[in-house]
Amino acid sequence: MAKKRNKLYRYTALSSMSSVFQVGNSDPRDLAGNWHNIFGNKNPIVLELACGKGDYTLSMAQMFPEKNFIGVDIKGARIFLGAKQAQTLHLPNVRFLRIYIDHISDYFAPGEVDELWITFPDPHPTDKGAKKRLTHPKFLEKYQNILKPTGSIRLKTDSTLLFDYTLDVLQEFHISPKLVLYNIDKATDIDPQTQSLLTIETYYESLHRKNHLAIHFLSFTLQHATIP
Ligand SMILES: C[S@@+](CC[C@H](N)C(=O)[O-])C[C@H]1O[C@@H](n2cnc3c(N)ncnc32)[C@H](O)[C@@H]1O
Repeated sequence: MAKKRNKLYRYTALSSMSSVFQVGNSDPRDLAGNWHNIFGNKNPIVLELACGKGDYTLSMAQMFPEKNFIGVDIKGARIFLGAKQAQTLHLPNVRFLRIYIDHISDYFAPGEVDELWITFPDPHPTDKGAKKRLTHPKFLEKYQNILKPTGSIRLKTDSTLLFDYTLDVLQEFHISPKLVLYNIDKATDIDPQTQSLLTIETYYESLHRKNHLAIHFLSFTLQHATIP
């Protein structure tokens, strides 16, 4: 009961947080094409999709103060925790967007985003659920709309099913991944920056690691791809 009340409190408090934009409070037309004004600079914009509490958003914002980070998820109570942490850490380069990622291209102008991370998205293991996977062509098409042509998409997941599915989708659209790491802990010859980014551990990652699951990583761009 207390847990439920706490969740409700976080969800309600979210609407008064200036770093959080959400359906109901924000008209997508006010946001698309306006993110650099919101941050007050022209720095690159990096999205973390399925951010949950925004572990990547918060860690990367500290590592790269010269970039802007936006965590995107639909779960308000989780975003609240990330936004609170950003306040505590005084991070001027962090915002959160509480929307369904299905509508992401309404909230950003074409080419407004420089880079995109997808961290431990739900694998939706059944064939019927495949359309909800955040690397389904339906989603890749939306990402292509908002990303700069050379903008990287990075996927980190424990789900071999989702990982292999994503590789199949890339192959279908003749996209060659830049980096494919099955089990990041066993990977060698990774450049130092990628290596340090991979050490960031999300909440779900910590749960999967407790269950001894391997973590996979994939990086690609959608440059020149015709989707669908
Ligand atoms: C397994 S959790 C991972 C959270 C976080 N990245 C982590 O690793 O701790 C997946 C997250 O994706 C979000 N999500 C899944 N599908 C979504 C969608 N279509 N739109 C917005 N959020 C979505 C869920 O709300 C959930 O917070």
